[in-house]
Amino acid sequence: VIAFFQKKTLTGKKVLITAGPTFEAIDPVRGITNHSSGKMGFAIARAAVEAGAQVHLIAGPCDLTTPLEATGKITRSNVRSAKEMHAATLNGSDCDIFFAVAAVADWGIAKPAQEKIKRQDKSAPSIEFIANPDILLDVAKTVKMKAGKPHPYCVGFAAESSDLEKHVQEKRKRKGIPMVVGNIGPETFGSDLNQLLVIDETGSKKIAKAQKLQLARQLIALVAKKI
Ligand code: CTP
Ligand code: CA
Repeated sequence: VIAFFQKKTLTGKKVLITAGPTFEAIDPVRGITNHSSGKMGFAIARAAVEAGAQVHLIAGPCDLTTPLEATGKITRSNVRSAKEMHAATLNGSDCDIFFAVAAVADWGIAKPAQEKIKRQDKSAPSIEFIANPDILLDVAKTVKMKAGKPHPYCVGFAAESSDLEKHVQEKRKRKGIPMVVGNIGPETFGSDLNQLLVIDETGSKKIAKAQKLQLARQLIALVAKKI
């Protein structure tokens, strides 16, 4: 059921969201992933549709159904690796707002084996990693000023284990984007609850612990004022 009381602050706007983990294959049956459940990204997708936006959701492997699909206001691409997520995102990066919520693997496997690596008669393999593309950074490089405002408006996420504000400030500068949203991991992974620290050019603002959908609605209200 659409929350009909939500303000339609994003009518006519296109929103692109990455969500969930990525999966980096080692061989056809093994791989490396992380604890992201996709819930925060999917909650933002729902909140954006509620606010009237046309949403494209690019999801890493996660077991969540597409929110509010019956509205016809949301499309979804399923991807696996960071490279696939990068390609799908840069392809669809013509949008008004980009939320990079996915927990993207920073490193992929340099040469994934084409056949299952067998244990027998072999010592433990050593795995060579290779840096993955930074999806958010590459979208940020495409930003142009439109009527004095950055287009698309890019929102990054950061899950940190300590020194949240410092790391989030540093990420905002390093990625050259107007807003980064921080949360302290890993306890938020998989949970329906979260709390956020939103950092933009005006400083930092805490959004108190609540259901991810409630947080997502508050975040959408904040971002809608920026564009
Ligand atoms: N991100 C991305 N592509 C990557 C890595 C990160 O798009 N290859 C995005 C995430 O979706 C998130 C933001 O960048 O919005 C910050 O991710 P994070 O992992 O916190 O930042 P990193 O720059 O990778 O720094 P580190 O992992 O070293 O803390
Ligand atoms: Ca990272």
